[in-house]
Amino acid sequence: MASQEEREAFVTLATNDTYALGCLVLGSSLRRAGTTRQLAVMVTPGVSQSLRDQLSRVFNLVYDVDLLDSQDPTNLQLLGRPDLNVTFTKFHCWRLTQYDKAVFLDADTLVLQNVDELFNREELSAAPDAGWPDCFNSGVFVFKPSEQTYNAILQFALDQGSFDGGDQGLLNMFFRQWATEDISRHLPFIYNVVSQAFYSYLPAFKQFKNNVKIVHFIGATKPWHQPFNTSSGEVTPLPDSGHNAEFLQLWWTIFMEDVQQTLDPNLKTNNHKNNRMSMLTTSEGLIGQLATLKISRDQGQEGSASALSSGERKLNWEKGQIDYLGEDSFVNIQKKLEESLSKPAEPHKPATSPFSRRSPTEETAETAEPTKESKEPCE
Ligand code: UDP
Ligand code: GLC
Ligand code: MN
Repeated sequence: MASQEEREAFVTLATNDTYALGCLVLGSSLRRAGTTRQLAVMVTPGVSQSLRDQLSRVFNLVYDVDLLDSQDPTNLQLLGRPDLNVTFTKFHCWRLTQYDKAVFLDADTLVLQNVDELFNREELSAAPDAGWPDCFNSGVFVFKPSEQTYNAILQFALDQGSFDGGDQGLLNMFFRQWATEDISRHLPFIYNVVSQAFYSYLPAFKQFKNNVKIVHFIGATKPWHQPFNTSSGEVTPLPDSGHNAEFLQLWWTIFMEDVQQTLDPNLKTNNHKNNRMSMLTTSEGLIGQLATLKISRDQGQEGSASALSSGERKLNWEKGQIDYLGEDSFVNIQKKLEESLSKPAEPHKPATSPFSRRSPTEETAETAEPTKESKEPCE
């Protein structure tokens, strides 16, 4: 008979290879924090065999699930995250009935200290959402697996839908008593610290920073989208990501130490669609880029070797966010222009930035070939 510790698990989710990267770092962070509980990751057919193999090195269970799609672009529009339609897939976690109790963690969370005490909490325990504290944030929650609850949640989804088009809106309606009934189900904020939140309350961040147990990198740009300098070993947060640099650095340290070397450099595709970030990462092959990152610190080389895809650089450029001291330095721009000028002109394809000879509308996830810079972003 399994011990109690074996009947409790941390559970996460990936519907594609990019989020699977997040799961790998999260899993490593849980191991580093010395958890005694099981680690389970739910994966959809969108996760490649290569990433599944990596996940099975860290997680006790790699569990196949179907993609559940909320098909609610209108409400997702309010969040500005059309890609979160697939977060209904999270509901499958209630089907992991081999566990008596579990803690769900988003793939964009990072555990800084042991949080095994969360298993003393009851369903549904979660921390307040920083944007609307009468709702809980569904990036971290304690739950009790049960087929019955799973079926009830799915029925609720069919009957009522979700007010944000994702899992959080639905779960907050399903477990609506959370807001008012039992304070023991309100997890302290330190279990789900939104990595940007303290900009609105810096004194508290200074005071309580060392107590933080779980960081959550919410928003469209994730740690894996941030430029990483292989010369200095430092990450430079994108100007509008809002993520705290120290927390990003922790994510990247674990990524570089535990995950990066195990990635397959030939993995260039992610078979997910319909959202801005995945379109960029698909066309640029983020995993392949990350897999070929090389730390050049030991050779004393200068300069920034960024993991940011050329698509994202292009987007920032077009938004007027230009990294004059790094990738977008005058020397690089000049080099790029000279390269482009020395090539035969491509008719009907106006340049939009020094990083592209195609307009963004022409570049789609299905058709785009990797550009030169995407193949060699990290030299
Ligand atoms: N997720 C996924 N694939 C996607 C989008 C989301 O697997 O394309 C999963 C992943 O576990 C992720 C969670 O759903 O952490 C919630 O999405 P995200 O963290 O991006 O939402 P945010 O916390 O930024 O609102
Ligand atoms: C929130 C949560 C995330 C959830 C999303 C969609 O921002 O952080 O976990 O998937 O909303 O409901
Ligand atoms: Mn998240």
